[in-house]
Amino acid sequence: MNTALGIRSWLAAGALGLGSAAMAQTPAIFKDADLKLGEKLIAENKCSECHARKWADDGNAIYRPKGRINTPSALRSMVESCNTEMNLGLFPEDVTAVAAVLNRDHYKFKQ
Ligand code: HEC
Repeated sequence: MNTALGIRSWLAAGALGLGSAAMAQTPAIFKDADLKLGEKLIAENKCSECHARKWADDGNAIYRPKGRINTPSALRSMVESCNTEMNLGLFPEDVTAVAAVLNRDHYKFKQ
């Protein structure tokens, strides 16, 4: 019985450890982001079509993690200004969702 208990708390500790490791991969400002919504908004707003027209590729070369966008909040601000400039009409949580998807797929900032 003592052994079973021991194994159970060892498992719980392991799960907790994994949980915090996964969270460390996501910058705080993107933690509550709705990734499904972000993916949908990126598709609907033709982000890649416009970028592709200017960069003559699939539209992903524009996302340059080593460029001047070098923090999660800089990324979110960039999406916010694209939103304002092009009158996309995104709500603040939409902007966060879009930025979170770009982070997951391209920028990969960890904090
Ligand atoms: C009408 C054209 C157009 C549309 C539509 C557009 N963008 Fe952009 N975007 C640009 C241009 C042009 C730049 C480059 C600006 C610069 O480098 O100064 C840019 C740059 C960016 C960057 C910065 C890339 C980097 O690493 O430097 C991000 C992020 C971005 N756009 C996100 C988006 C998202 C998300 C959407 C859709 C919601 C979107 N854009 C829609 C034209 C567009």
